[in-house]
This record gives sequence, structure tokens and C-alpha cells, in this order.
Amino acid sequence: MGNSLIALGYLIAASLFIFGLAQLSKVRTARRGNFLASLAMLLAIALTLVHMGIVDYRWIVAGFIAGSVIGGLFATRVQMTQMPEMVALFNGFGGGASALVGLSIFFGSLGALETDPSVSNMLGGAHVAVTTMLSLLIGAVTFSGSIIAFLKLNGTMRGNPILIPGRHVLNIVLLGGTVAIGAVLTLGTFDANLASSLTVAVVSAALLLGIMAVIPIGGADMPVVISLLNSYSGVAAAMTGFVLSNNLLIIAGSLVGASGLILTRIMCKAMNRSLANVMLGGFGAEGGDSEAQQQGYTNVTEAGPEEVAMILADAASVVFVPGYGLAVAQAQHATRELADILEERGTKVTYAIHPVAGRMPGHMNVLLAEADVPYDQLVEMDQINPEFKTTDVSIVLGANDVVNPAAMHDKGSPMYGMPILNVHESRTVFVVKRSLSPGFAGIRNELFDYDNTNMVFGDAKKVLTDVLAELKSI
Ligand code: TAP
Repeated sequence: MGNSLIALGYLIAASLFIFGLAQLSKVRTARRGNFLASLAMLLAIALTLVHMGIVDYRWIVAGFIAGSVIGGLFATRVQMTQMPEMVALFNGFGGGASALVGLSIFFGSLGALETDPSVSNMLGGAHVAVTTMLSLLIGAVTFSGSIIAFLKLNGTMRGNPILIPGRHVLNIVLLGGTVAIGAVLTLGTFDANLASSLTVAVVSAALLLGIMAVIPIGGADMPVVISLLNSYSGVAAAMTGFVLSNNLLIIAGSLVGASGLILTRIMCKAMNRSLANVMLGGFGAEGGDSEAQQQGYTNVTEAGPEEVAMILADAASVVFVPGYGLAVAQAQHATRELADILEERGTKVTYAIHPVAGRMPGHMNVLLAEADVPYDQLVEMDQINPEFKTTDVSIVLGANDVVNPAAMHDKGSPMYGMPILNVHESRTVFVVKRSLSPGFAGIRNELFDYDNTNMVFGDAKKVLTDVLAELKSI
């Protein structure tokens, strides 16, 4: 196939990636976006195979089958709640693949040092040498960091931040050391043995750096780290694209790098925290201090399913506010059933979506989509907030930090400045959770003490099922 036809094919694949990505930004078009991006990937793989023609096709077929089986098994077996850890693992695979390509290019050309000891010349010029080192460094950091994130999320490792004394200094030394060795390698002249040892040192230090960077981060901050690692895996792939002179890999890697960074920024903004605070802060370390937190309440009013049903029966408008606890309780279907009954009775029902409710970006959208909640009933924070003043009932389902009014006025609160859902402005608020324990931020929620708030203690699914039964009998 001619080079210009290959280039045209790459251009089409790159455009499909961009269109796919744009469609992923809306729930309604996300499936199509995913399909377009997969199509682009298939086209990219096929074109690269035809273009390169250097790898034995038997290896390619073996890799293709192994990858498809592993990917297929993951995609069909993974539970919705295991999604974040799967994304973490796949980021790790992406970073690992880039590092492996860098290693194979490096060790594959090592023989050239016998005639010319310059590593830069060996790799085909300074720009290839620099990008090879970068793909090794970033790829290895992404791989080990993602594996730690995966282990934390699936519960193999403790989710709490692990704060090693002197970790900041150690991280600076590791980063500085890795960059310095990489720079010396690309600029200097070496025999094959020394060049190999230094390369292994770069990769080992980068792997350690990835581990050290992720272990101090608390479980609920993992989504930010995962999206940052996702961005790194894209940058590593783009670097590998330079190494292989593959324009499509450069474009696809840059898209992943940029979109991961944008998502990271959106999440940090929604929590009113800087990226440095997430990466260095050990936030959530004291999150489980529920005993002390429980003592701070003086005006808690309790309600049972029967009272909830009675108030709902007369409500003209109801807003459901889902949070992490809804996912834990797997109460999305019960929520939908209750919403259906309310709608049949003529009540206006909407769902208020906070950008960082839950434990991963879009967590609540995915959860509610599983129960086939109509997309147009999901309302983003900025649109729903002005509506609370005229809402009869808000039902907070396993959400906590994202509805804490202290974020609006308490300058001493670690959450001060974090945008929240203004549920406290509704006529009546029901907060469904098992106890007065704090959420991820580990702080008292003053909403529980408000006069218009009623606490409904229990597992969200059980409470909703009971409310449903009561409502049906009215
Ligand atoms: P949280 O503030 O973590 O509160 C969740 C609440 O769910 C808990 O207080 C818990 O109270 C309750 N709960 C747990 N299991 C339950 C069950 N079976 N039934 C009923 N309730 C249950 O959650 P949120 O409001 O969704 O806020 C998310 C937090 O995560 C924010 O602090 C946010 O900054 C952080 N975060 C999120 C992201 C993303 S992208 N989502 C990223 C980084 C950080 P009980 O134990 O009393 O039941």
C-alpha cells in the first residue's frame, strides 16, 4: 500500500479519535463515541501492521488473540463497582507497553555502540534518544503507580494514605536522579554494559517513583490519581510515537494526555483543592474518626419510612441526590422504582448530579444509567442549584460531603470553597444513611442539624424499599 494511502488512513483514524472523544463528553452520545474510537483503533492497528511489515505475523496474531481474550474477559466480567480499578489497570498496561517499546528499541540497537559509543547516535539522533528516555521514565512511573492504585482500589492494599517520613525528599531525589541519569545517557558515550546498567537504573528508579507517588494518596482521591496516570500513559504513548516515527500514536497519545489532564483539573476544581494538595496532602487520613464527629450534633431529627412516604405523597417536586453510599447499597433500581411511582402520582422528579459524588468521574451517571433512569432527569450542579429554593423534597441518598453547607461559609472547614448541592434550601430534606458518620472528608455535616432536615437511618436500598411499600399503601 502506498505511503500516501497509509497517511490518509492515519488521518481518518486520528479524526475518528477526535470525534469519538468529543461524543464521550455527553451521556447520550457516549456509546457512539466509544464505537468511533474503537473503530479508529482497529484502523490504526491494521494500517500499522501493513505499514511496518517488520514483525512476524505469527507474533502479531498471538498478541492479538491474547489481548482480545484478556480485554474481552475483563469487559464482560467486571462489575460496575470495579470500574475504577479496571481503568487503573488498563492505564498501567498502557504505560508498561510504552516502557517496553522503549526498552526493546534501546536493547535492540545496543550492538551499534561497538563501532560508535554515542547512545544518541545509536538511537538515531538526539530527539529519538530523549523521547526514548521519556517513554521509559513516564511509562514506568505510570505502570507502577497504576498497579498501586489498582491494589488500593480492589482492597488488596489499605486504601488509607501511607505516609512515609521524608517521602517528599525521597521523591525529589528519585525524580532528579532518574532525569539526570537519562540525560547523561542521551548525551554521553558508553560501552554496551554500562549503557545497559544505566538504562536499568532509569527504569528501576522510575518504577519506585511511581509507587512512592501513589501510596500517600487516600482511597477517595484515587479518581484524581487515576485520571492523572491516564494522562501520563497518553504522554508516554506520544513519546513512543516519536521514537517509532508514528504520527498517529503521537496524536492519539496527545489526546489521551490532554483529556486526562483536563479531567484531573475538573475534579480538583469540583473539590476546590489543588493538584498539589491531592498528590501531597494525605487527605482523608483521619476520615474514619466517626465517634468524635458524631458528638458534634445537637438538633438531629429522625424520620422513618412511613413519615417519608407521607411527605412524598403530597410533594409536587422531588429531587434525588445520589452519593457514594447509593453505589455501596446498590440502590439505583430501588431509587428508579420510587421515582416511577412518584411520577405516576404527578410529582416532578429530577436527580441532582455533583461532579465528584461517588468515587470516580461520572460515577452517579453510570450508576443511574444502569437502572435506566432517563438522561434528561439528570441535572448538573450548576443547573439544579437555583431550583432547590422551589423544591418540596430533597432526598439525599448516601451522599454526605457534596451536600455539606459548611463548604459555603465555614472558613475553617477543609471543604471551604468546594461547590455543593444546595439541598438545604429545599422545603424538606431527607438524608438517608446508616449513621451520623462523616463521609470521605471526615468532617461533621452541619446539614444534619438543620431544622428542615430529617435523618432516615438505614441502608439506602432497605429504606427505599420500605418507603416504596408505604407509598403504595397510601
Ligand atoms: P461521601 O461524602 O464519601 O459520603 C458517603 C456516605 O454514604 C457516607 O457518609 C456513608 O454514611 C453513606 N453510606 C455508605 N454506605 C451506605 C449504605 N449502604 N446506605 C446508605 N448510606 C451509605 O460521598 P459523596 O457525598 O458522594 O462525596 C464524594 C466524596 O469523594 C467527596 O468528598 C469528594 O471530594 C471525594 N472524591 C470524589 C471523587 C470523584 S471523581 N467522585 C474524586 C476525588 C474525591 P454511613 O456510613 O453513615 O452510612
